[in-house]
Amino acid sequence: MTATIDTGFTKAERTDVAQELTKVLADSFAVYMKTHGYHWNVRGPEFFSFHNLLEQQYRDMWAALDDIAERIRALGVVAPQGHATFANLTSIKDGDPDKEALEMLKELMKDHETLIATSRAAIEVADSASDEATVDLLTQRLAAHEKFAWMLRSTLGGR
Ligand SMILES: [Fe+2]
Repeated sequence: MTATIDTGFTKAERTDVAQELTKVLADSFAVYMKTHGYHWNVRGPEFFSFHNLLEQQYRDMWAALDDIAERIRALGVVAPQGHATFANLTSIKDGDPDKEALEMLKELMKDHETLIATSRAAIEVADSASDEATVDLLTQRLAAHEKFAWMLRSTLGGR
């Protein structure tokens, strides 16, 4: 038995929005993994503060992954799963455990800027489909990544 979907969207709208959410999910997963890895491997005199800052950020992103994937499901599209699948969906590179602490933070700041751009592009598509629930979720993700970029930028001495 097949249950049909009637949530007020056309199939094309659901597919288009889910595709944008999938990009945000893949970028978020990559930045989550890098942040957690740098939380483990960061070294130097600022260890404790960097280690804790990164923990705060990876915990937020970990929780968000579930919300984003479940929004894709609510749109009637399957969520991606598996390392290879995720790797193919993102342009964010793996972290390097031997990087200097400040270089790690700088790299993450840039990654959040990428996520800000990915989220904004996705919001535009969700908005044109009048998908308020997705716009709401992505607006929260946009604000989170702007905040994380600010925290990393300020830790590096920028405004
Ligand atoms: Fe930890």
